[in-house]
Amino acid sequence: MAKDFSLMEDSNRSSNPSIHEVSDPSRRTVLRGSAALAALFGGAALSACAGGRPPITGAKLGFSSVPPSTADRVVVPPGYTATVLAAWGDPVGVEGAMPAWKPDASNTAAEQAVQMGMHHDGLQYYPLDGSRRGLLVVNHEYTDDGLLHVGGMQPWTEEKVKKAQASHGVAVLEIELVGNAWRVVRPSRYARRITATTPIALGGPVAGHALAKTAADPAGRTVLGTFANCACGQTPWGTYLAGEENFQDYFATADTPTAAEKRYGLKNKAWYRWDAFDARFDAVRHPNEPHRFGWVVEIDPFDPASTPVKRTALGRAVHEGAWATLTKDGRAVVVSGEDAVFESIYKFVSRDRMQPGGAKANAELLDHGTLYVARFDPDGTGRWLPLVHGQGPLTAANGFADQGEVLVKARQASDALGGTKMDRPEWLTIDAKSGWTYCSLTNNTQRGQAGQPGTDAANPRQRNEMGQIIRWREHGDFDAETFDWNHLLLAGDPANERPEAQGNIRGDAFSSPDTLALDGRGVLWIGCDVSSYALNVGEMARLGNNQLLACDPATGEVRRFLTGPVGCELTGATWTPDGRTMFVDIQHPGEAPRGRNDPANPRRYSNWPDFDPNGRPRAATLVIRKNDGGVIGA
Ligand code: FEO
Ligand code: CA
Ligand code: CA
Repeated sequence: MAKDFSLMEDSNRSSNPSIHEVSDPSRRTVLRGSAALAALFGGAALSACAGGRPPITGAKLGFSSVPPSTADRVVVPPGYTATVLAAWGDPVGVEGAMPAWKPDASNTAAEQAVQMGMHHDGLQYYPLDGSRRGLLVVNHEYTDDGLLHVGGMQPWTEEKVKKAQASHGVAVLEIELVGNAWRVVRPSRYARRITATTPIALGGPVAGHALAKTAADPAGRTVLGTFANCACGQTPWGTYLAGEENFQDYFATADTPTAAEKRYGLKNKAWYRWDAFDARFDAVRHPNEPHRFGWVVEIDPFDPASTPVKRTALGRAVHEGAWATLTKDGRAVVVSGEDAVFESIYKFVSRDRMQPGGAKANAELLDHGTLYVARFDPDGTGRWLPLVHGQGPLTAANGFADQGEVLVKARQASDALGGTKMDRPEWLTIDAKSGWTYCSLTNNTQRGQAGQPGTDAANPRQRNEMGQIIRWREHGDFDAETFDWNHLLLAGDPANERPEAQGNIRGDAFSSPDTLALDGRGVLWIGCDVSSYALNVGEMARLGNNQLLACDPATGEVRRFLTGPVGCELTGATWTPDGRTMFVDIQHPGEAPRGRNDPANPRRYSNWPDFDPNGRPRAATLVIRKNDGGVIGA
């Protein structure tokens, strides 16, 4: 989701120390002030960029770079074709319930509940028959109610709230390759929509906890729905992990929020206004309902009758997503970050080992274990600090009655422990072969501004418009408590005047990395999310629309692979096992620069992908194939 600054919450006011130096831990140097920036951004990498594209020496990036674009279309390199597979409003394929998309947005809430939701985000492919047939699981992060309804929010009705709730959540599609083209299988016994009203179980220490009990659910064990599902990950046991990101924007609380509500960004008005017709989003009347969101949700995509589970042992946070791997002895390790200014990165290590037998055999694997928050030290090492009740400051005297309360208040616990306050952690991805974990820190324009934390080694730029990709490698197995870290790259455009906005990319310029995904060859794909009001102006003036790039982590070389339509964000990236099909999501084409679109002029910024004179822009999943059937990017 591209951030609207009017909504952006700076709720992290704790006083963890900031380091006020700029460092390049990979070189083990600590520098200060402008000399530091010159050293960081100067030298060979920058001169290579300034002279155009550096010579490509790696063999992994085997395609021609596409130029920046401001066109309202998708552009891919010569020899490739991108086609739309499933757009907002297309039926997912539930037997007997496949209502057609209506371009004037007149589909009902009930129809929307069996159609693709709005604003596709993370997605994952699960093979049913290798690389020819599989399930595609897609997050639908949020809604633009100016585009979603006839007349937008005027008037605002219960039916529109229900339609908005039905537009959120997750879709499961069955897809197959016929000839050289992918299609959605309709009907399919796997087809499913999970929405903001689907019953979801709470698992782990917060299940049944006093802080999770509500009038509608006195047991505190079953929540209606998931929403704000941004990024996602696939577990080694075959399930899907969806993050619940900006949940705070769905709840309205008192004019003066409690300290705990304020720390999670709740306000007296809810951006989505569901509270007007659904009382559980009124946090004054139902103060525990917000405790039931902000979790990682585990879904078994192969069983449409299964109940998704919110895994509370992973902590309550503005979870961008969650990414899993295994230790050598088979315990699960899940990393996640909070996409909010000055928030943290977390790691969970399970107590038990993964068992053979898929989702059912590992139904409680993520319910028992230890959660940590990351501290990045200026010497290029780091430490995982455990969020364990009774250890260190996490005691009843400090407001943490038990482990459940530590998890519900993971932000306060991280503050107490001294977790590093990052520049908005978005996607992570784990390279199990090399041991590197990568995380995009998309940007943080508040860094170093008046009253805000200053720079530190991991977040080295003031008014960070551009973002960076940080990576770390554990000291030992993935459950280690210490690690080494450095920056894979600092994003930017070398043509910018401000040193902090130039970056040190070896290759094509970009800003605001968000999606990160490794393909089977070890190429790191980077999806960008520059907010629409910042696109093509100021320090982004030469970068064009949002884009998808490929990076060879071994050389650091970056090449632009795809440019999206106007106002979109590039998100999600997943492949068939043979690497010959790539799926990517185009989110919010035509996003209004600030706020919602005008329902009277829904095509003002974009009309992609239909270009229907009576339609409106639609988020969509793209299929990308090489025309000769070869491996994508090779
Ligand atoms: Fe939904 Fe952090 O992007
Ligand atoms: Ca983003
Ligand atoms: Ca994102």
